[in-house]
Amino acid sequence: MHSPLDSYLYDHAGEMPPVLEWLESETLKQAGHHSKMLAGPALGRFLIEFSKLVAPQKILEIGTFTGYSAICLAQGLTSDGVLDALEKDERHANLINESIEKAGLKSKIKIHFGDAKELIPQMNKEYDIVFIDANKREYCSYYNLAFELVKPGGYILADNVLWYGKVAETTPPNDAQTQEILRFNEMVKNDRRVSGFILPLRDGLYIIRKL
Ligand SMILES: C[S@@+](CC[C@H](N)C(=O)[O-])C[C@H]1O[C@@H](n2cnc3c(N)ncnc32)[C@H](O)[C@@H]1O
Repeated sequence: MHSPLDSYLYDHAGEMPPVLEWLESETLKQAGHHSKMLAGPALGRFLIEFSKLVAPQKILEIGTFTGYSAICLAQGLTSDGVLDALEKDERHANLINESIEKAGLKSKIKIHFGDAKELIPQMNKEYDIVFIDANKREYCSYYNLAFELVKPGGYILADNVLWYGKVAETTPPNDAQTQEILRFNEMVKNDRRVSGFILPLRDGLYIIRKL
C-alpha cells in the first residue's frame, strides 16, 4: 500500500518497463518478506533516468537479487552496452533469467553467480557505472575492489547508505551493518579521488563520481 505522497510521485513519473510489475509480484510470491530487498518503483525510476543520462557502455551491479535494478539500469545502455550482474544466491536464478528474457535484455545483462569479493577482481573491464547493493557489512570492500574498474568521470552508486536513518542517530546502533555503512560513508567523504552526494531517495543513495 503506497502513501498518498508516494502515489502522487508515481503518478507523475514516466512509464516503467511492464516486466517490472510482474517481477515485483513474482518476487513477492517466491521470496516472501525478502521481496522488500528489491529496488521498487521510486529508486527504479531514478536508476532508469540516471542510466539514460549517462548512456553507459558498461555497468557493474553488485547484488542483483531477482533482477529489478539490473533491468532498470540496463535501460540506458548504449546499443553495444552490457551490464555485468553479480549475485551470490542462485535460488532465484530462474526468476532472474525469466525476467531478463521478458525484458528483452538477454543479450545485454550477463549474470555471474558467486561472491562479489571474488568476482570483482575477475571482471577486468572499465565501467561507466557501478551499483553497490549487496551485503551491507561489506560495502567498503566492494568500493575498494571496484574502484580501479571505474572510468574517470564514471559513477559508483551505493544504495541504503542512510540505513533507515540509523547513521544520523546521536548514538548510532553498534550492529555490524550500521557500523559498516558509517565507515563506508566516512571513507567516501574523505576520499579525495571522488566527489559525491547522498540523495535522500528511499533509504539513501550515495552518488559518487570518480574525478
Ligand atoms: C538488496 S538485495 C539486491 C536488490 C537488487 N539490487 C534489486 O534492486 O532488485 C542484495 C542482494 O545481494 C546479494 N549478496 C549479498 N552478499 C553478496 C556477495 N558477497 N556477493 C554477491 N551478492 C551478494 C544477496 O544475495 C541479495 O540478493
